[in-house]
Amino acid sequence: MENELQVKLEGNLLTFLRAMGIPIWVKREPEPVLTPQTESLSWSALEQTVKACTLCPLHQTRLQTVFGSGDPTSPILFIGEGPGANEDRQGLPFVGRAGQLLDAMLMAINLDRKNIYIANIVKCRPPHNRDPSPDEIAACTPYLRQQIKHIQPKLIVALGRVAAQYLLKSSVSMNKLRGHVHTLSPENLPVMVTYHPAYLLRNPLDKAQALEDLYRIRAYAGT
Ligand code: URA
Ligand code: SF4
Repeated sequence: MENELQVKLEGNLLTFLRAMGIPIWVKREPEPVLTPQTESLSWSALEQTVKACTLCPLHQTRLQTVFGSGDPTSPILFIGEGPGANEDRQGLPFVGRAGQLLDAMLMAINLDRKNIYIANIVKCRPPHNRDPSPDEIAACTPYLRQQIKHIQPKLIVALGRVAAQYLLKSSVSMNKLRGHVHTLSPENLPVMVTYHPAYLLRNPLDKAQALEDLYRIRAYAGT
């Protein structure tokens, strides 16, 4: 009863203030970050759930989701940042220029995209290829975690800063993260880091260092 009265009085006050032309600021709780329930989803149910997902604002501007591609039974999982324009159009990861360079990088260590799995941190394209926001990453990554649970890779390769920093819960630079075998927690899986191919297209001088990373990956994974 008391609450009802209070709501009514507040309503009256707001109407009065509005009528006076006084701007009103109503304190709102920050919007909760919704996270999907993924724990019990099979691989195909997970894929269908991602396809229909509207949990973060990226769904408003995507053409389609990009779940991943390759062999989900592979021992090696590559993780990028998020779809770009070409990926958004085709529904597949790494199909643009960066994807061509990724293919060359894989070839250098006897890998082919058919025999690894490739996924991204976020499944929908951030507009204008901006970095995904922390909220978008928080909303989307339960899907990735469930993909990891199904794949059970022997090695995860993080492509670029966004994937590396998310997976390793770190804010240190790529240069410091490269060159080590880290551990994904709580899954307790090894993670190695290299430059994102899109970064290498812009900074070709770092390709030599990327090749060193790839050789370390090859040595670790025995490819
Ligand atoms: N860059 C990414 O991080 N992922 C893609 O799928 C394509 C480009
Ligand atoms: Fe859902 Fe991820 Fe797409 Fe956001 S980015 S709408 S959380 S699938």
